Amino acid sequence: MYINFWYPIIRSEDLGPDKPEKIKVLGVNLVAFRDSKGNARVLSDTCVHRGGSLGGPWELGKNPRIVDGCVVCPYHGWEFNGDGECVNIPSIGYGTKPPPRAKVDAYPVQEKYGIVFAFLGDLPESERPPLLAIEEYDDPTWRANSVLVLEVDYYYERSIENGLDPAHNEFVHPTHGFQAINRETYRVREYDVENYPQGWGMWFLHRFNAPGLKGDTWKESQTTAGDLYAGSGTHGPNTMITEINVGNNQKFRQYFFEQPVDQSKTKIFFVNMRNFMLEPKHDGPIHARNKIIAQQDIEILLDVYPPRTPISNTKEVLMPADKAVVAYREWLAKFDDKGWRIDWDEFQRRNMKDAAFAIPSPRRRGTGNWVLETVPLIQSRTERKQQATG
Ligand code: FES
Ligand SMILES: [Fe+2]
Repeated sequence: MYINFWYPIIRSEDLGPDKPEKIKVLGVNLVAFRDSKGNARVLSDTCVHRGGSLGGPWELGKNPRIVDGCVVCPYHGWEFNGDGECVNIPSIGYGTKPPPRAKVDAYPVQEKYGIVFAFLGDLPESERPPLLAIEEYDDPTWRANSVLVLEVDYYYERSIENGLDPAHNEFVHPTHGFQAINRETYRVREYDVENYPQGWGMWFLHRFNAPGLKGDTWKESQTTAGDLYAGSGTHGPNTMITEINVGNNQKFRQYFFEQPVDQSKTKIFFVNMRNFMLEPKHDGPIHARNKIIAQQDIEILLDVYPPRTPISNTKEVLMPADKAVVAYREWLAKFDDKGWRIDWDEFQRRNMKDAAFAIPSPRRRGTGNWVLETVPLIQSRTERKQQATG
């Protein structure tokens, strides 16, 4: 898990005007709420007074939890604005200036595609990897399904790698690949991996045999069995793109914005785009179908061991079909070498004991007086390998 990327936090429709939401991402708790202009704001959830949870149970007490665009700590009522500054401490009197240390980390936010995203890291704006752009989102010849959220009990890197894997379809998805392997002819064709055009990951397009979709839920898109093109790519550690060409220039483009909750849980925010069957009546069946396909992947991935991807490719037997997985891991190695990887073992050693951690926010650069420690980071992949081998 890495700091310094954009992460999905919550669906726009799930963030109301008067209820803060507590969300765990990268192992730490965040609070999301809407300020008085309706803009989504994301802060570190830990109140620096005495550790209350800013997004904690809101049903308790009778006091409102959002006042004048500030989130109110349910414990002693400290009020934090969207920039993370405490503006009121009731115990010293409303309107009395709080001390400078009364602040929490605040993260840059973008609300797009029906999702609230936060930049979880401390890079200044000019150095930040961008949020992946869904270029066809506002194009009237394309249609987006509403955001589907999948909560899965496995590590996000295993999830991304599964989406980059052209050799699993025939075994995991009866409706994707041919249901029965023809042992005489079956093999995964060679493919080339290139950089994804948006600059922070890889991409490949792959030709494969697929069954016709006749008799399927996509009744109006019947195709015959034959060669189809499908591709996948990544952007940053946690975003995956899949393109499926079902013939006649009819395409799905699928965007998976993954939220690593911790090392064993992931929330996948899934935006499905299509340039055919544009009528809204197709949304439901497409959702239903995507859920079935996702469930087939989930059942396999729950059993994968070890749950984290191994530090070295020599701990698995990788084949040419795994080229895309290898290319993704090479990108992760680049993020490692920037020093952005969270040192999870060190984090776990102290988290939930005496230490409260926060993801560093951009304001930490050049300003002091921060109360919470930042999550421990590993300086490079070399250092990580050294740790793994003792
Ligand atoms: S712990 Fe938040 S106000 Fe006291
Ligand atoms: Fe799959």
